[in-house]
Amino acid sequence: MFITLEGPEGSGKTSHIPHLVEFLREKGYTVFPTREPGGTSISEQIRDVLHDMKNAEMHPRTETLLYQAARAQIVEQVIQPRLADGEIVISDRYYDSTIAYQGYGHQQDLDEIRALVKYATGGLTPDLTILLDLDVEVGLGRKKKDNEWNRLDAYTVQFHRRVRAGYLEMVNAEPKRWVVVNSEQAWESVQAELRKVILARMKDEG
Ligand code: TMP
Repeated sequence: MFITLEGPEGSGKTSHIPHLVEFLREKGYTVFPTREPGGTSISEQIRDVLHDMKNAEMHPRTETLLYQAARAQIVEQVIQPRLADGEIVISDRYYDSTIAYQGYGHQQDLDEIRALVKYATGGLTPDLTILLDLDVEVGLGRKKKDNEWNRLDAYTVQFHRRVRAGYLEMVNAEPKRWVVVNSEQAWESVQAELRKVILARMKDEG
């Protein structure tokens, strides 16, 4: 089973995933957490280029292609083999981030972006995608406070508002794959809801 977590900046995905993994492992599941961009040596090197504040001149098309390069590698090297072995893979971001950020955020042609994403992933779609949703200003404020500022965080608030609106459009377009969790709740409530959503989906899938 392939589960992805998505969200605007500061949505808390990264802090929730280790606790979800531990919870599922205690229940006896084999779970493999990963993140995008990253998760393999090559993809982590691409991540550094993408996030480096020094690369302010990076063009949106360059940015889009670098994310797909990092993704193609992790899909082939990590995600596909583990899914084939029957593991649960939980990824901190996946191709919906490209549609939200490079598509809606940078206002690039969505059909072109979808075609690139399909090429990069070989068509691998998550079984469940959870949107950790929150107000854009609240999220950016959290990231600034935690000193985790990267090149993309420095895009305008309008950019980040388009990202969030894009996510919500994607949820409406594919309501079976997506579940929305409000990440402005207390951390413990978000974690409890995430566990519930994942267990329910696993039960449905048998
Ligand atoms: P994060 O690890 O803090 O979530 O940072 C990843 C950043 O990369 C975040 O700003 C979202 C961005 N991103 C994209 O713009 N497109 C993508 O396809 C992915 C995977 C991430």
